[in-house]
Amino acid sequence: MNTHNALTAGKVWLVGAGPGDPDLLTVKAARLIAQADALVYDHLVGDGIMDLARADARRIYAGKEASKHTLPQDSINNLLVELAREGLSVVRLKGGDPFIFGRGGEELETLVESGIPFEVVPGVTAAAGCAAYSGFPLTHRDHAQSLTFVTGHLKDGTVNLDWPALARPKQTVVFYMGIGAVDEICRQMINHGLPSLTPAAVIRNGSMQTQQTLLATLGTLPHRLAEAEIKPPALIVVGSVVGLHEKLNWFEKP
Ligand SMILES: C[S@@+](CC[C@H](N)C(=O)[O-])C[C@H]1O[C@@H](n2cnc3c(N)ncnc32)[C@H](O)[C@@H]1O
Repeated sequence: MNTHNALTAGKVWLVGAGPGDPDLLTVKAARLIAQADALVYDHLVGDGIMDLARADARRIYAGKEASKHTLPQDSINNLLVELAREGLSVVRLKGGDPFIFGRGGEELETLVESGIPFEVVPGVTAAAGCAAYSGFPLTHRDHAQSLTFVTGHLKDGTVNLDWPALARPKQTVVFYMGIGAVDEICRQMINHGLPSLTPAAVIRNGSMQTQQTLLATLGTLPHRLAEAEIKPPALIVVGSVVGLHEKLNWFEKP
């Protein structure tokens, strides 16, 4: 039971853990993690973040590595309800922001149906974290006046996206979960009008000590990525802002 702290019993906090660096947690997220009775956390929650939890807190790994879902989504939804009904204060911890490609909405819908109170704590989403730590702004008056976050996750072997809109010039497009579909993404962006020399980058493990930025173009990215053997979690960023990495990089060692 919730005897150690001031958190309400029987309530769930859906918390964004940011892209990896524990220093990118919000003050509220850090406080909740340190006080919760139970934490249900995902694969992408950065190293060191779970160390903030109470020694006696219940820790449940919910997984969700690409193609290796440890707990099915329904089981996660029900688990949150069960833990709250036990009278625990529950932190549901997700990488990045829980409402950006995080299925946070689905989990909250189950809580609403079950009458469980909740709060949402936003986190630094991977695109913002990777761009900051890789040294390129996602918008810039000389390069991009708009910004799109899109999922590159393959459904039935295809990436079914609005390619004409994504291939418009003067914007930055960030593909989450796109590494497995990089060939298709680059081909479609070129087929829909972007020059093959358009700058494109992949950032792996953004904001962590192991961060890697690979600079290429739409024409060369698939080959460069295969050569570098870069695996998820990684983002693909398309647009001329990535060219600023060489000038503005402050985090990655050359
Ligand atoms: C299921 S989505 C979750 C996104 C998360 N809710 C967010 O707001 O960042 C997982 C994808 O986010 C991206 N991602 C998350 N953390 C990352 C990181 N530290 N570096 C690079 N990409 C990351 C990768 O594309 C990964 O496949």
